[in-house]
Amino acid sequence: MIGVNDNKMYSNLLVFKFKNYELEYPDSIKEILSFSTNSGEFKELENINTLGKTEYKKIFIVGLGTTEEFNSVKLFKALGNAIKSIKDAVSDLDILDNLNEDFGYTIAQSLYLSQYKYKGIKQEDKKVKLQHINLISNYKESISKGLIIGNSINFARDLANMPSNHVTPKYLANQCENIAKEDNLDIKILDKYTLEQLGMGGILSVSKGSIRSPRLIVMQYFGNPEDKNVTALIGKGVTFDSGGISLKPSKGMEKMISDMEGAAAVIAVIKAIGKLKPKKNIIVLIPTVENMPSGTAYKPGDVITSYSGKTIEVISTDAEGRLILCDSITYAKELGATTIIDVATLTGACANFLGGINIGLSSNSDELSEQLINIGNSIGENFWRLPNNPEYMEQLKTNNADIKNTGNNSGAIVAGLFLQSFAEDTAFAHLDIAGSSGFTSPTEGYDVGANGYPARTLIEYLLA
Ligand code: BES
Ligand code: ZN
Ligand code: ZN
Repeated sequence: MIGVNDNKMYSNLLVFKFKNYELEYPDSIKEILSFSTNSGEFKELENINTLGKTEYKKIFIVGLGTTEEFNSVKLFKALGNAIKSIKDAVSDLDILDNLNEDFGYTIAQSLYLSQYKYKGIKQEDKKVKLQHINLISNYKESISKGLIIGNSINFARDLANMPSNHVTPKYLANQCENIAKEDNLDIKILDKYTLEQLGMGGILSVSKGSIRSPRLIVMQYFGNPEDKNVTALIGKGVTFDSGGISLKPSKGMEKMISDMEGAAAVIAVIKAIGKLKPKKNIIVLIPTVENMPSGTAYKPGDVITSYSGKTIEVISTDAEGRLILCDSITYAKELGATTIIDVATLTGACANFLGGINIGLSSNSDELSEQLINIGNSIGENFWRLPNNPEYMEQLKTNNADIKNTGNNSGAIVAGLFLQSFAEDTAFAHLDIAGSSGFTSPTEGYDVGANGYPARTLIEYLLA
């Protein structure tokens, strides 16, 4: 689908253009380009019909802005935007990568992510028209790495976009088993019985209303066994969040099929890591459940015992994410994690106040926060760190248990601090992707639906 220097005959060509700098083009297309009206403005796209003057029928010119302002985020967006416009117009495309510097890694990711469109579950399998892309480039190695990442993220976007009668906890576990098999990763799937033996009251309680039994999926990749540093990534895998007995309003409830986007993101990461094989130690944990109301469901007022031993009074059964995550955090610590990062569509509050532009970051570590924020900025995923004042924790005090699962206000901040209290002194970051994990209209090259955030940031963090 996306190749490098494959020497086939393609009908269409895409080239880049700077505003203030002349790139080198082959003679055969130089003349056509002299007719271009593209000023090289960032994201400017021109489509030239060559009228038989070259081997190509059409040449697309993509503006990259000025060389001073140019960086890989600009390239990612400009190319993504162009592919979004082209992907249903032509079926093949050569791309001339003559940027004088190795941007192959970014180009490959941008191509994969912008070419993606969720197909839905339909009788007719309707693919996007653009099926064959070839990069003409000197940077084959970085392109292949970028393709691995793009492919892994698109795989996860499909999981996130698919409905919850297809993507069940069992289905997620099966998908992870396939990934583990492909790249020889260690995998353990803790089933309901095992969770009961261990006393994972958070995961078990949330799953009680559903006929679909819970799982805790644990995948391990130890690329440097001598190193004592181990990063655990935890992804919220609620395959459907009805709210449970604290039932959500019916309007918009269908969106809660994507309450496993945290799980999808960490699946993308481990799928890529299994192939890129960095010298790092990584554990991926996915607590996965369906949150349903029923006669067997957990209820507001219940006091549950988490895996840590801490008791939790359930005020809202809709604040279920933190209950499955806290058990996973404790388990990650037991497995020897020295850094723990969770990814979760955790609070509507986060979606509302950050407006989908930033991922909410709650952390007990300045260093880890800074690393994630900087990497995010360099690739185009934005993070906004939430406050950590201990006063917020007052809201979670109760006479009935050690802690309760919701406060009165400041929803995203309180949720972050709830999770931090389980991480204790282990370096910890909670990434609230509610609102930022998908687009409701096409944005910067991404189609509607899940965008895979923050998988790219996490992959860079692990490769660094
Ligand atoms: N999955 C939701 C959060 C969510 C809301 C994600 C909107 C994406 C879009 C989460 O489980 C939830 O219901 N949170 C509650 C917490 C509240 C009860 C403290 C919320 O945000 O309303
Ligand atoms: Zn939820
Ligand atoms: Zn909920």
